[in-house]
Amino acid sequence: IKPDGEMERPPLIPIKGIPMIKYFAEIWDDVETFEPHRDDLLISTYPKSGTTWISEVIDMIFKEGDTEKCKQNPIYARVPFLEFKVPGVPSGIELLRKASPPRMIKTHLPIQLLPEAFWTKDCKMIYVARNAKDVAVSYYYFYQMAKVHPDPGTWNEFLELFMAGNVSFGSWYDHVKGWWDKRKEQRMLYLFFEDLKENPQREIRKVMEFLERPPDARLVEKIAHHTSFKEMKQNEMANYKTIPTDIMDHSISPFMRKGITGDWKNLFTVAQNEIFDENYKQQMEGTTLHFRTEI
Ligand code: A3P
Repeated sequence: IKPDGEMERPPLIPIKGIPMIKYFAEIWDDVETFEPHRDDLLISTYPKSGTTWISEVIDMIFKEGDTEKCKQNPIYARVPFLEFKVPGVPSGIELLRKASPPRMIKTHLPIQLLPEAFWTKDCKMIYVARNAKDVAVSYYYFYQMAKVHPDPGTWNEFLELFMAGNVSFGSWYDHVKGWWDKRKEQRMLYLFFEDLKENPQREIRKVMEFLERPPDARLVEKIAHHTSFKEMKQNEMANYKTIPTDIMDHSISPFMRKGITGDWKNLFTVAQNEIFDENYKQQMEGTTLHFRTEI
C-alpha cells in the first residue's frame, strides 16, 4: 500500500474467468455495454503483439501520411484503449465518448469478452498476432515496468504463469485461436508481427486495401519510415514516455524495448524451451494457425 492508500501492483481479478487488471475489472459493466459506431475500426491484439505499431500505421493511413497531425497527440489518445482504466488518468471509455466516429478503438479482450455491439454493428477489425515466445518475453519486461500488473516474479515463474494463461488478459493460446476462428465471419484482417517485421511495406499495403484506401507508393514508403522501430522509439507521441512514471517506469525497461523477432532466444533456457514446445503442441493442436519464431 502506498502512502495515499492506492495499492500498487494489485492482484488480477477474473472477469468471466479471464484474469484482468484490477482497475479494468472495476469498470467492466461500462465496457460490456459499450456501443461502437459501424464506421469505428477495432484494433485487437493480445498484449505485446504490436498494438502500438499497427495503431501508428493505421493512424498514418487515416491522416494520409501527415506526420505533424499524428504528432499532435499521444498514441493512447489517438487510439483509445476500450477497457483501460487507471486511477487519475482518463479511461478508454471517457476518451471514446469525447471522440466522434469513425474512431480507432484498441482492445486486448479475448474474443468471447468483446462487447456484443461490435458484432451487431459489423465493425471492421484488424487483429495482430505475434509468436508466443517473443510475446512471453516482451510481457515479462512489460509486467516489470507497468505497475498496474502483479509482480511477475522470476522469468521462470512468469513463463509458467504465461503457459497457464494466468496473466492479464488470460491465455495467449486461446486469444490468438479465438480471433483466428472468427476471421472469416467478420470484416477482419488478421496480421502477424513477424510479417510486418519482414516486409512492412507489403503489410501496410494490405491494411490500406482492407481500409479501401488507394495504395499510393510514396505514401506507403512514408508510413513505413515513420512507423519503423527506430522512429517510433524516439517519437514521444508513440513511445509512451508521456505516461506518469508511477504507472510506467521506462528506467526499468523501456516500452519501445527491442522490437525484433527472436529475442526469446536471449531468455529461454534449453530446458524451458523444451517444456514450452511440448506444451505449445498440446495447446495449439488442430489449429491451422501457424507462427514464425524467427525470420
Ligand atoms: P519488445 O518488448 O519485444 O521490444 P504492444 O504495442 O502490443 O504493447 O507491443 C509492444 C512490443 O512491440 C514491444 O516489443 C515493442 O518494442 C514492439 N514495437 C513497438 N513498435 C514497434 C515497431 N515500430 N517495430 C517493431 N516493434 C515494435
